[in-house]
Amino acid sequence: MRWILTCLQSMAYLEIADACVHYPVRTAWGASDRVVSAVDGVSLALEKGEVLGLVGESGCGKSSLSRAIMQLQPFTSGSMRLDGEDLSALPPRELRRRRVDFQMVFQDPYASLNPRFSIYSTLVEALSRRSPLPRGEREEAVAELMTRVGLRPDQMFKYPHEFSGGQRQRVAIARAIAPRPKLLLADEPVSALDVSVRSQILNLLLDLRRDLGLTMLFISHDLGVVYHVSDRIAVMRAGRIVEQGTADEVFFHPQHEYTKRLLDAVPSL
Ligand SMILES: Nc1ncnc2c1ncn2[C@@H]1O[C@H](COP(=O)(O)OP(=O)(O)O)[C@@H](O)[C@H]1O
Ligand SMILES: [Mg+2]
Repeated sequence: MRWILTCLQSMAYLEIADACVHYPVRTAWGASDRVVSAVDGVSLALEKGEVLGLVGESGCGKSSLSRAIMQLQPFTSGSMRLDGEDLSALPPRELRRRRVDFQMVFQDPYASLNPRFSIYSTLVEALSRRSPLPRGEREEAVAELMTRVGLRPDQMFKYPHEFSGGQRQRVAIARAIAPRPKLLLADEPVSALDVSVRSQILNLLLDLRRDLGLTMLFISHDLGVVYHVSDRIAVMRAGRIVEQGTADEVFFHPQHEYTKRLLDAVPSL
């Protein structure tokens, strides 16, 4: 019994082993037998409550990896366990039910929000995913959620186009945390935002992580941004993890030439 408990305690919340995502190459003549290895044998583990930063240049496979973790597309090979469970084995209905546990924030908050839905409708839908939210409690719950992400509740009946980029990303973050997920994946969440609002959004994510005990995979091409939010950092290049360590190790004592190049590209330290 004791050793079972020990095993459970030492088990990572998210564990990916030798994962690959390949895309078929299409030519003008149709499909060929060549593939693009967007993710090429990646192994990662996230402990509960930890922020892992995934950094690498555009095109290195970060989004392919995150979409596969979100079960939006399959891994070509390899395995993934969330809280000890292989999600790829679940029937679609069960997977839908389980989705509340892992949510995502995308790069472009405008594209990820439905322009025809008011913030209120978007957030009521998100708040009702785990269990239906009684009509009489909706406005209060939306107001509370908006306050939590730094938005004014009196704006709940407005539409996405009436907000700034930073505010829209706050809405997208509110929608992601509404079903009380355990894992949050943020794929370049500040890359489309003005430099002046980036640190506000990063600090919001850090506050939420602390208050809600979130486990977070934070993805960016910018090592400076990743260092700001991460406990550990994994460096990805051409589909592979080339270096992994604590944020301080990777940022201050990079081992790999590629990491040093990423560090040189950080605008101002
Ligand atoms: N749906 C797709 N079909 C074919 N190739 C793709 C697809 N999505 C991404 N790729 C290719 O996979 C590689 C990794 O892309 P991506 O995962 O978007 O990287 P990143 O998010 O790091 O910029 C790139 O070469 C890209 O062109
Ligand atoms: Mg990407």
